[in-house]
Amino acid sequence: MSLSSEIKRRRTFAIVSHPDAGKTTLTEKLLLFGGAIHVAGAVKSNKIKRGATSDFMEIERQRGISVSTSVMGFEYEGAKINILDTPGHQDFVEDTFRTLTAVDSVIVVIDAAKGVEIQTLRLMQVCRMRKTPVIVFINKLDRESQDPFDLLDEIEKKLEIATIPLSWPIESGMRFKGVYNLYNNSLNLFAGTDKQRVNEPENIDYNSPKMVTHIGQKNTLQLKEDIEVINEIYTDFNRDDYLAGMVSPVFFGSALFNFGVKELLDTFIKIAPHPQPVQAVERIVDPFEEKFTGFVFKIHANMDPNHRDRIAFVKICSGVFQRNTNYLHVKLNKKLKFSNPTSFMASKKEVVDDAYPGDIIGLYDSGNFKIGDTLSSGEMIHFKGLPSFSPELFRFIENADPLKSKQLAKGIDQLMDEGVAQLFTSTFNGRKIVGTVGALQLEVIEYRLLNEYGAQCRWEPVQFFKAVWFTSENIEQLTDFKNRKVRQLAFDKHGRNVFLPDSSYELDMAREKFSDIQFHFTSEF
Ligand code: G4P
Repeated sequence: MSLSSEIKRRRTFAIVSHPDAGKTTLTEKLLLFGGAIHVAGAVKSNKIKRGATSDFMEIERQRGISVSTSVMGFEYEGAKINILDTPGHQDFVEDTFRTLTAVDSVIVVIDAAKGVEIQTLRLMQVCRMRKTPVIVFINKLDRESQDPFDLLDEIEKKLEIATIPLSWPIESGMRFKGVYNLYNNSLNLFAGTDKQRVNEPENIDYNSPKMVTHIGQKNTLQLKEDIEVINEIYTDFNRDDYLAGMVSPVFFGSALFNFGVKELLDTFIKIAPHPQPVQAVERIVDPFEEKFTGFVFKIHANMDPNHRDRIAFVKICSGVFQRNTNYLHVKLNKKLKFSNPTSFMASKKEVVDDAYPGDIIGLYDSGNFKIGDTLSSGEMIHFKGLPSFSPELFRFIENADPLKSKQLAKGIDQLMDEGVAQLFTSTFNGRKIVGTVGALQLEVIEYRLLNEYGAQCRWEPVQFFKAVWFTSENIEQLTDFKNRKVRQLAFDKHGRNVFLPDSSYELDMAREKFSDIQFHFTSEF
């Protein structure tokens, strides 16, 4: 198959949701369709259950699972589908953000009873920033749900994206009858209890008298009324608007009962984008270019204590990646060859000879890679990653075992390269400050330092409100600011200036007083 056909048949995407909305269940059902797994329950949820934050075994288990389920590739109806897994726990939201830099589209799962939840809001912000095409799957219709019009309104308001329903539910909960597919006018009746069975939808116009025999008089009338309203208020589906990230098609179903999932998948492979051009600092890289380029979006420490190497996950952006070929590691300006790159088909890892744009490969790494690094056939090119956002929780990290200070330094360095947390160095006293989104990351760091590097750390509380990057052309004001805030300044890992205010009040005061200083809330400015 030509490079062009290989690219066009690829769909690389992530499923995102607030925890418990049904991401794992939906992933599993999609894999069942692709024949990648054969029984339900094969995909383990990689979420850490609420309240289990001190359960280190759980953290380790979760890490094991997330290596094997990081990328799930399968074939379906001629398409090569790559699902990129994202962590369910909110403390690892940065991980999810990074994964979103490697996908061409996203499916958002929303719980039909709960509507839009906080985690979905944050993730959608990133999708909007990157103009990622989004399909919405409203899940759990087998339970009492909110009114579908209200749900669409809520999505439009909270997620700030126009919606267009491509299917429509008929009742919910105990009375749930099924969904009407507005895209190809067919009715899919809900059979309930059999979680493995896939119903064959029947092509039927909603005005047909036969509708009554399927869903009853009352529901037929309601459906007609609903569809009339839909036709009035929603425009016709336009794929270009979806591809531009301006409108999200919406499907309704029940992932648990494998209901509405096939419709979602069939439409997905038709409308979702194949690998798209990627913006690099120097130029836009087109996937159809002959020469290989790719970037590292995730690094995973090896689970096996005897092999402490790591796996760097590379998204291929253009050309063909080949095994045992020299590629340029742009940042190190060094040629590297990979003898056993792995692909992730059917949730098992295997050595791959060739990989194409949209594919993710795992490269064994002994410390060469950092998140965001570019590999190329020789061109000095740098892909833009996602900016770091300010952490929300800060701690001084101290050495608790003076004999292991080297190990601690190495451990901290490598864990930060993996993107586990952000590290700042106080310019006042050189102390190291770790910034995270949540407390669970601190536990992971402590646990991994001990188990992987033999180092012990101790946390000391520190009250910072945010990490804010700052720059200014006004040298006088900059010097004055630095003199006054001397205890609250730090460098990030790239040596850039960071201000660590105690409170939002202090930040506001600084912005007011030092009007020539620019304060930046993400690391990209
Ligand atoms: P997540 O990955 O988004 O966190 O959610 P996950 O798929 O793990 O689903 C969360 C819970 O919701 C699970 O129940 C799952 O069975 C249930 N669920 C998912 N989809 C549906 C659906 O369409 N209908 C109904 N009724 N339930 C659904 P659990 O009891 O937390 O876990 P488990 O013991 O069933 O694994």
